Amino acid sequence: MHITVIGSGYVGTTLSACLAALGHEVTAIDIDTEIVETINRGRSPVSEPGLDELVATHSGDRLRATTDYGAVEESDVTFLAIGTPSYADGRIDLGGITSAAEALGESLAEIDADDRPLIAVKSTITPPGISEVRSALEAGLGDGEVELATNPEFLREGSAVSDFQQPDKLVFGTDSAWATERLQELYEPLAADVPTIETDPETAMMIKYANNAFLATKISLVNDLGNICKEFGLDAYEVMDAIGLDDRISERFLRSGVGWGGSCFPKDVDALIAAARGEKYTPRILEAAVDVNDRQPKRLLDLLDEHVDVADKRIAVLGLSFKPRTDDVRNSRAIPVITGLLERGARVVGYDPVATESMRERIPEIEYADSAAEALDGAAGAVVVTDWEEFASLDSEFEAMAEPIVVDGRRIVEPTDELTYEGLTW
Ligand code: UDX
Repeated sequence: MHITVIGSGYVGTTLSACLAALGHEVTAIDIDTEIVETINRGRSPVSEPGLDELVATHSGDRLRATTDYGAVEESDVTFLAIGTPSYADGRIDLGGITSAAEALGESLAEIDADDRPLIAVKSTITPPGISEVRSALEAGLGDGEVELATNPEFLREGSAVSDFQQPDKLVFGTDSAWATERLQELYEPLAADVPTIETDPETAMMIKYANNAFLATKISLVNDLGNICKEFGLDAYEVMDAIGLDDRISERFLRSGVGWGGSCFPKDVDALIAAARGEKYTPRILEAAVDVNDRQPKRLLDLLDEHVDVADKRIAVLGLSFKPRTDDVRNSRAIPVITGLLERGARVVGYDPVATESMRERIPEIEYADSAAEALDGAAGAVVVTDWEEFASLDSEFEAMAEPIVVDGRRIVEPTDELTYEGLTW
């Protein structure tokens, strides 16, 4: 099939390269000429394991990039994969996707109605937002009709390519059998044995939001339970490992700690809360999930305060990314942790195996170390924010601390006899 993907960010590039790998002819459209040139040179504009290789293999062959919307003329399916940044109140800004939809509509006006592609929204937009995208598309088109579907993604950073290639489920939100068949044909090479949900466009997007809201709330509940365990002097991980054996709960996403971050959970939960409030409904449990998540970094710092007065002291922050194996610091719990330490007058030194530069851009005023050992050297305390594997083998490095105190937000450090070790929820 001929596919166009409008927007070549994290989701769009993964989609374009993976669809080319499935055997489709893909044109990636982006208004940013630098991104277009990067793809055409065979490089991925975003960092994701396996993506560079896929772009390198297919670029110039089944994958090409352009700034020209004219490419939609040839296509069977056109995806909208434009970013939807958040407003301060959590609502998502649909400005980018509606202007792309309008420009797309204008290009479609040139094409005979029967030859128009199916338009599929890949970006995560709330159900009420879908009609705004549809209106923008129709405004561009003027007269006539085009069909809008939604096809949400469930990709995790760090494993987006393999998540695409081995999905748990495919979700097609359409208004017609024609649109459903197009999406079935598109995904046919990987759909065998994959449950496919065929529903309307709004329900499909709600599935995406409900999925993320459920997982984020699951972690917040686990954090609430972990905090109770801590108060009782009990091991939260032992408790959670046991309840995970109940297959209605499952053993995954039961790790209590400093909370959830990243580009999806915080943004999607906030957007869903804002959209619900827009309908005059107050989603109490989701609000509580956000509250618990905001509280965890504060608890981490309160625990450190019990051991050391951090004012004017060197404090190491180990782990800056929102999770291991990524340099993404968006909504990383390290941000409120560093901010809280600075408010207490601490001299903060941060270390991360890969995310130092991303954090330096956000918080330039602290010191950054090139290794955990360097960060710990002379420190009067350390907090662990990300569960990077290398923190599990730290040992003699703690000896160089002025005071060997570690508050571990991810249960990754091995306690030693010389170390004052405090787990966040255990
Ligand atoms: C998530 C969803 O998993 C994915 O389906 C969706 O499309 C996008 O959002 P991602 O943000 O890449 O993916 O990260 P994920 O691995 O799900 O972790 C999210 C956050 O939860 C991280 O900050 C992680 O540290 C935290 N987490 C996860 C916990 O605190 N405890 C756990 O047990 C699991």
